[in-house]
Amino acid sequence: MKPETLLPAWHAFPEGRLAAGTLSLIGNTPMVRLNGFDTGCCEVYLKLESQNPGGSIKDRVALAMVEAAEKSGALRPGDTLVEATAGNTGIGLALIAAVKGYRLILVIPDKMSSEKIAHARALDADIRLTRSDVAPGHPDYYQDLAARIARETPGGYHINQFANPANPQAHESTTAPEIWEQTEHGVDAIVCGVGSGGTITGLSRYFSRVQPSVEFVLADPEGSSLAEYVRSGKHVPSGSYAVEGIGGSCVPAIADLSRVKLAYTISDRESFATVRDLLKRTGILAGSSSGTLLAAALQYCAEQTTKKRVVTFVNDTGAKYLSKMYNDYWMIDQGYIERPHTGNLQDLITRKYEEGAVITVGPEDTLLTAFQRMRLVDVSQVPVIENGHCVGLLDESDLLVAVHTDGKRFQLPVRTAMTSRLETIAPGDGMERLFNILDRGLVALVVENGQFLGLITKSDLLNYLRRKL
Ligand SMILES: Cc1ncc(COP(=O)(O)O)c(C=O)c1O
Repeated sequence: MKPETLLPAWHAFPEGRLAAGTLSLIGNTPMVRLNGFDTGCCEVYLKLESQNPGGSIKDRVALAMVEAAEKSGALRPGDTLVEATAGNTGIGLALIAAVKGYRLILVIPDKMSSEKIAHARALDADIRLTRSDVAPGHPDYYQDLAARIARETPGGYHINQFANPANPQAHESTTAPEIWEQTEHGVDAIVCGVGSGGTITGLSRYFSRVQPSVEFVLADPEGSSLAEYVRSGKHVPSGSYAVEGIGGSCVPAIADLSRVKLAYTISDRESFATVRDLLKRTGILAGSSSGTLLAAALQYCAEQTTKKRVVTFVNDTGAKYLSKMYNDYWMIDQGYIERPHTGNLQDLITRKYEEGAVITVGPEDTLLTAFQRMRLVDVSQVPVIENGHCVGLLDESDLLVAVHTDGKRFQLPVRTAMTSRLETIAPGDGMERLFNILDRGLVALVVENGQFLGLITKSDLLNYLRRKL
């Protein structure tokens, strides 16, 4: 069979099935019933905003805010968009800027996931990282910095999602009617997070017209001030949390929370455990905030005595967080997954050799193999193992010394460049001895009765000490 008979030619797609371009793929996201979780007498539906082309709900508002500015004449061809963003709005804007031909400057606080920054950068956004530890009013605060850059850039246009009315309007005119149609006019509760407040404001405006009885429920990360504001009207100080995209210290200018009567506070630990369960039970790869929303939706369901149809969101794809909550070692490092305590230095080994978790090389492997393995998992040294015993250690300096005169030397065996004078430590040794090794710029190899157990690096010790806070 010829290939062209397997694949229809572009003009042969049935009418209505062919999208006119990437931007027309934004919105009209699918909704799926949640299976595999105890939802009591309720049904839960997930709206998969992760299916937007930029991988998040923010594609909708990015498009709406750019088109509103074009329509008003505030944005002209060749102008530069500027925005302060935790990531997803930036990716949405970068996608639109790429398709429509605008320049884009993104001001991003330095706690955001590296996948999001890499995605925006690959779309040619000009990324300006700024401090995430400063408050409004500080010149480095990300929103103030974006406003200043927009003022100082010729043709600069500040998108300002936190105060831009096109943001909630996008949800009122697209997300909300989609939910109404997809549930066939049968929805009792909507569980939302608040970032800029665009989603909750737009949805609650729409449903106050078509079905005012719909209950709006806030899902808020522990550490955010918004849940307490909904419960008591009080502004309490905020703390830090690791879930991205939602929560905050104050109610944003465009957010209208007046129809939100119920709020749940969800810890990072529960959010991460919930999205990891979601992936394992349904195959849906969801972002960190989806865990917060789903955990809150499940708590809401558990409290109901009559059947309710509950809608919540997968607001972004988990592909943006593969290095974070879907990475077991990250979860262990951060203390979200507990391991049995041994009470000795074994507690500091993140990757255990017996679990096959240590990246190693053999003495006869080439230096190139060793270098590629180090790059793969982003470590700067590998233990050299022969017959289950650690016979050496190879780090970046050893590699440099070996190959700096001639790149062909990457073909030499590891044994020619490794260090065989090893700093070993027994599980029962004290912290002082460990500190002594690390302080000399070395890594500690934990060995018990001749058996290699794993490595302890400076960052393992720092993570261990932080977990004890
Ligand atoms: C990743 C992410 N971004 C954004 C939002 C909502 O943002 P906004 O309040 O700005 O509409 C959510 C809400 O749950 C979210 O999970």
